[in-house]
Amino acid sequence: PDSAARFLPANPADLAALREAAAGCTACPLHQLGTQTVFGEGPKTAEVMFIGEQPGDSEDLAGKPFVGPAGKLLDRALKDAGIDRRRTYVTNAVKHFKWVPRGKKRIHSSPNTMQIRACNPWLKAEILAVKPAILVCLGAVAAAAVIGPKFRVTKDRGRFVPSDLAPYVVGTVHPSMILRLEDEESKRIEYGRLVEDLRLVHDVLA
Ligand code: URA
Repeated sequence: PDSAARFLPANPADLAALREAAAGCTACPLHQLGTQTVFGEGPKTAEVMFIGEQPGDSEDLAGKPFVGPAGKLLDRALKDAGIDRRRTYVTNAVKHFKWVPRGKKRIHSSPNTMQIRACNPWLKAEILAVKPAILVCLGAVAAAAVIGPKFRVTKDRGRFVPSDLAPYVVGTVHPSMILRLEDEESKRIEYGRLVEDLRLVHDVLA
């Protein structure tokens, strides 16, 4: 099966070496679809790591995670929860943008289990290199990759789960879910619930 493992650098604890190696990753077919590898970003000293699904259109073009609409919402939620994004490490379960064409637009397409698994060595290496106290999974794909396939965002969100990967591991919704909601009232409620989950993270840090 496809795996990024053979692309890992000699010293996987070196974030710069990891990033450079990931830039050349061709372990799964998604490298042909994305413009570039979108590696995680943030200080090596970060105490919190946020893990999303995969880069979106904006991220694919910028080469940075969570800089588009979902990133803007995440920034606002972090601020409202009292968390400074500059002190966090932000990354994704999958490092290439998977999309399908619709007219001139590139529409997000969810990565499959094989692609998530193929990319997992990069995420594991980032976790080992940064050693954050808290891992926050944003959405089902990140939660499946980090916590396991039984995690259900609706049922299990906002509660720390035991894990070998970090002292504190929690899952919550993906910010894109909130952006997709049609009516303003639902948006407001779901945004409030996201901030509430992020408050838990803030309280562990404090
Ligand atoms: N959605 C994600 O899951 N990750 C990003 O980096 C941007 C949007």
